[in-house]
Amino acid sequence: MNKKCQVFTPENYVIELLDSVGYTHNLYGKKILENSCGDGNILVAVVQRYIDDCKENGLSRTRIKNGLAKDIYGIEIDEEQYKKCIDNLDKVLKRNDIDKVDWKVINADYLKWNTTIKFQYIVGNPPYITYSELKEEEQLFVKSNFSTCVKGKFDYCYAFIEKSINSLADNGKMSYLIPSSIYKTVFGHNLRIFMSPYIAQIKDYKQVKIFDKALVKSSIMVLDKQRQQELLHYQDMSMENAIDIPITQLDEKWFFADENEVGQHRFGDYFKVSHVVATLLNKAYVLSDGAYTEVDNGYVCGNHTIEREVVRNTETPRTLRYIKHEKIIFPYTYDENELVHYDDGEFERLFPGATAYLNEFRDDLDKRQSDNNAKWYEYGRSQALSGLNRQKLLISTVVTNDVDVYELEQECIPYSGMYIVQKEDNNEYTLTDAMRILRSDEFKEYVFKIGIPISGKSVRITSKDVENYMF
Ligand SMILES: C[S@@+](CC[C@H](N)C(=O)[O-])C[C@H]1O[C@@H](n2cnc3c(N)ncnc32)[C@H](O)[C@@H]1O
Repeated sequence: MNKKCQVFTPENYVIELLDSVGYTHNLYGKKILENSCGDGNILVAVVQRYIDDCKENGLSRTRIKNGLAKDIYGIEIDEEQYKKCIDNLDKVLKRNDIDKVDWKVINADYLKWNTTIKFQYIVGNPPYITYSELKEEEQLFVKSNFSTCVKGKFDYCYAFIEKSINSLADNGKMSYLIPSSIYKTVFGHNLRIFMSPYIAQIKDYKQVKIFDKALVKSSIMVLDKQRQQELLHYQDMSMENAIDIPITQLDEKWFFADENEVGQHRFGDYFKVSHVVATLLNKAYVLSDGAYTEVDNGYVCGNHTIEREVVRNTETPRTLRYIKHEKIIFPYTYDENELVHYDDGEFERLFPGATAYLNEFRDDLDKRQSDNNAKWYEYGRSQALSGLNRQKLLISTVVTNDVDVYELEQECIPYSGMYIVQKEDNNEYTLTDAMRILRSDEFKEYVFKIGIPISGKSVRITSKDVENYMF
C-alpha cells in the first residue's frame, strides 16, 4: 500500500467537487460513489448534504437512515483510513441525531472491485502514483485490465478515471481532482481519447498550490455522460476567466488557449527545432571547466593530450546561464553541412590522444545502447548532428519563469536542450526574428499553457511544442 498518495482534499475543494456535479438537492434515491475515500473528507460532506436535503424535503429520520445505507458508497484500500472513515461518518450521524447506519463503505481495492451498480455521481481525489512508483505486479494488473493504460508509463489515476466512467449511470456525472499534467502528457493520450466524449468542464488551479505537501498543479474535471453541447467549459481559476472550447478542437494534447490569441504562422514552417546530440555518456566526451588545460596542439586532460581537431566548444542552457566554458570531444567532421564519419581505424590513427582518453571509458562506452552502426568512440545517437553545423539558437526543455534563448556559433555542439535552425526555404524570418518570437510574452504564455508541469513553477516542453507555436 503506497501511503505517499494519501493526500487529503481541503474543504473548499470538497465543496467545489460536489457543486460541480450538482450534488445539491433532491439527493434521496441517487447513488454516489467516492472510490478512494481515505478518512472520509469528501464523504462527510456528502452525508451532511444528503441529510440536510432529505430534511428539507420532509423525509423522516428512518427514511434518511435507510437512504444513507442505500445511496452512499465509499471504497478505501487502507484499513486504517477505512476505519477512520467509518468513525467520521458515525460522528456526522450523531450530530444529526440519526441512528447507526449500515454504511456501504468497503475496505477494498477499487480497481478490483466487482460491481454492476451504476452511479449517478462519482466524486473524488484518486491516488496519483507514477508508473515507476507502482509495484511490478500492480503495473501488470493495470496494464492488462485498463485500455487507457496499455501503452507507456501511465499514472495509476488513469485506471480510476476509466473505471469510474464505466460505472456512471447513463445520466451520471463525475468530478475528480486530478493533476493537470494528464491533459498533455504523452502517455495520457489514450486516456484523453477515452474521456473526450464526456469531458464537460475543467476548473484549472494553475497558480494555486492545493496541497501543502504535493507540488502538483491540479484541476477539477467534470465528466458528464449526457453532455448537452460539444463544448468544454474551461475556467482558469487563477485569472478568473472562462472560455468554451469546441470539443473538436481538443487535439493530441489538450490545449486551452483562446482562439483569438492564436497567430497565423507556424514556427515549425520556418524553423527546425531538434533535441541536441545524445552521446549517451557525457562524462566521456564533455571536458568540464577546470578539467582541461589548453596547449598549442590541443587540450591536456589528465595524462592525455586530446587533439585540437576533435575538440569543439559545447554549451547547454545551464553552462550559458552560469557562464562555464566546457569543451566536447567531437569524433566526426563535417563536409559543408553533411556529417562525415571517420573510416575504420582512421580515427584511432589520426587522433591517438583522443583515442587513449576515450579508451579510459571503454567499458561504459561499450555498454551504451547506441545506434546500430555507431563505432565505439562515436556518440550513441548521431541523428541530431546533421544540420547542426550552422548558426543556431539554443533553448531549454524545462522552462522556469522565463524562456531563455541563446545564440550559438556554427562550430558549437550543444549536448543539452533543443537547438533551432532556419529552414532552407525560409527567406522570410531570420534567427534574430526567432529569438524575438521565443522571448515574447505570448510565447511564454503558450509554454505555460502547453507545457507539462513538473514541479513548482517549471514546465517541460518538446521540440514539437515549439514547432507548433503560432506567431
Ligand atoms: C489522494 S487520497 C484521497 C483521499 C480522499 N478521497 C480525500 O480526498 O481526502 C487517495 C486515497 O486512495 C487510497 N487508495 C489507493 N489505492 C487505492 C485503491 N486501489 N482502491 C481504493 N483506494 C485506494 C489511498 O489509501 C488514499 O487514502
